[in-house]
Amino acid sequence: MDETTASTETLREWLNAAKRILAFCGAGVSAESGLPTFRDAGGLWEGHAVEDVATPEGFAADPLLVWRFYAARQRALLPAEPNPAHRALAAIEHESHLDDFLLVSQNVDDLHERAGSRRLVKLHGNLMETRCTGCGRLERLTTAVPDPDRHGLPQCHCGAMLRPNVVWFGEWLDPLVFQPILRFFESASGPSQRRRNQDRGETLVLLMGTSGLVGGGYNIPDIARSIHARIVEINPSETYLTPHSHLAVRAPASILARAIESWAPRIST
Ligand code: OAD
Repeated sequence: MDETTASTETLREWLNAAKRILAFCGAGVSAESGLPTFRDAGGLWEGHAVEDVATPEGFAADPLLVWRFYAARQRALLPAEPNPAHRALAAIEHESHLDDFLLVSQNVDDLHERAGSRRLVKLHGNLMETRCTGCGRLERLTTAVPDPDRHGLPQCHCGAMLRPNVVWFGEWLDPLVFQPILRFFESASGPSQRRRNQDRGETLVLLMGTSGLVGGGYNIPDIARSIHARIVEINPSETYLTPHSHLAVRAPASILARAIESWAPRIST
């Protein structure tokens, strides 16, 4: 049995044993939907200077450059479809034998939502939403903003400029986004629960498709270890988070669909 087959079999067993699962996801989960990651070869940060297109200072200096970058990402997202990884995460959420499930994603695309995920925390905001820099109004987009070079910068009804409703470098995350994460770990961390985590694998944390280079995984791996949760990294490559993991499944994120075939047989096709 090759290493990936063996690790996928262990993942299958750990998924079946778990009573609560938290999945921490990054751009690699959307890679099989055709969306670029940030730091892989050909990634978004290869073609664009982060400080120019993903900071408040960059937006203040050249909002047209920033809107070109985000309008292009919105256009790239429109034809993309949820892949088996997104659909497996949605299926796990709705799996009846679990007491709790939480999906914590750094991704700003809407593929988790379109796959049916609802117990979802979006740490870095939403690519298909704008926020007014004046009145703060949020608006959900159904298509990409009009080409800013031809139609000018997107404006609010109040007259102020709109920005993408995403978190930029140098900006604080809304503390409220961490509440569901803390509630999940609170419910998994009483003294007897820690023993059951250790003895029976009742709490499982998946680290999927993320380099873990932003926020160091937002302490999710550290908290998971502190309550003796099982930690599985699903990523074709080693990452900054690998040392925190008990199991590494060196495969694309869609392997999760194969691991839950007994619950949801049609997803991996
Ligand atoms: P990265 O581009 O840093 O890392 C993507 C990870 O996905 C890498 O570890 C790849 O090995 C892995 N990967 C690639 N293809 C995969 C596949 N098919 N299946 C599974 N994994 C795959 O992206 P993130 O970790 O998401 O933040 O980056 C985190 C944050 O940094 C982003 O949210 C964004 C970025 O700057 C902001 O812009 C604030």
